[in-house]
Amino acid sequence: MKNIKRILAAFLACAMIAACTACEKKDETTSSTPVESAAVATADTATKDEAAGEIKFATEGKLTMATNASFPPYEYYENEEIVGIDAEAAKLIADKLGVELEIKDMEFGSIIGAVQTGSVDIGMAGMTVTEDRLKTIDFSDSYAKGIQAVIVKDGSDIASVDDLEGKTIGVQESTTGDIYATDDFGEENIKRYNKGNDAVAALVSGVVDAVIIDNEPAKSYVASTDGLKILETSYADEDYAVAVSKDNKALTEAINKALKELKEDGSLDAIVEKYIPAE
Ligand code: ARG
Repeated sequence: MKNIKRILAAFLACAMIAACTACEKKDETTSSTPVESAAVATADTATKDEAAGEIKFATEGKLTMATNASFPPYEYYENEEIVGIDAEAAKLIADKLGVELEIKDMEFGSIIGAVQTGSVDIGMAGMTVTEDRLKTIDFSDSYAKGIQAVIVKDGSDIASVDDLEGKTIGVQESTTGDIYATDDFGEENIKRYNKGNDAVAALVSGVVDAVIIDNEPAKSYVASTDGLKILETSYADEDYAVAVSKDNKALTEAINKALKELKEDGSLDAIVEKYIPAE
């Protein structure tokens, strides 16, 4: 019953976010200034919002976002352009902040470091909130749910998460699939790949017996490859959020405000519906 443990972990992570949000709330001014005016780092707004301070941008006039664009439908290439739920949501957030959006594609495992050092402003990559990550970076409020799913070949003898014991499992390096599976099934049983689709290719060629990866990318990989299926039981339930440096509280606050508005006016739902049409 490995997945029970994971659901609990997700719950704890949520509780932590809720706790953080609660303490930030205390410092919030009651004014209903639009996000834009809170965002522009002028001396004027800086005095208005002393608690959170000014928003810092890696490059002035731009919201620089780190992602790993091999993760449909959240971020992937369409011709030369990075599209997907995260890319479009980030564009709307940047609009609300009154800045341009710039997306930097990098390895998934490099995103948190880039956020921490301030070479980018945010990480948006279907990134799961975990207790460990919260030690080094902040997360915005959650904007989507994620599920760690198990992909196997049609006809595989793996029918549930517990059948993974002793099997060779492919994962995308540094993802929660990697972290949890290594923990549960042992280093010697894990094979790490740079991209989710490389892990899926390894499954097709028989190098691994299963792939643990987020459910929506899993669906997309399975749809474009013959002979694969997703197990009905999930491995872990998660929350996706925007990663922000702990030194940029004003940005986290502004993003939360923007996300709230985008949830309320239905634009976030519209983006999700565009990329994940309801069956
Ligand atoms: N949700 C998982 C995690 O946070 C995987 C995210 C991978 N994202 C990507 N764009 N490759 O670890």
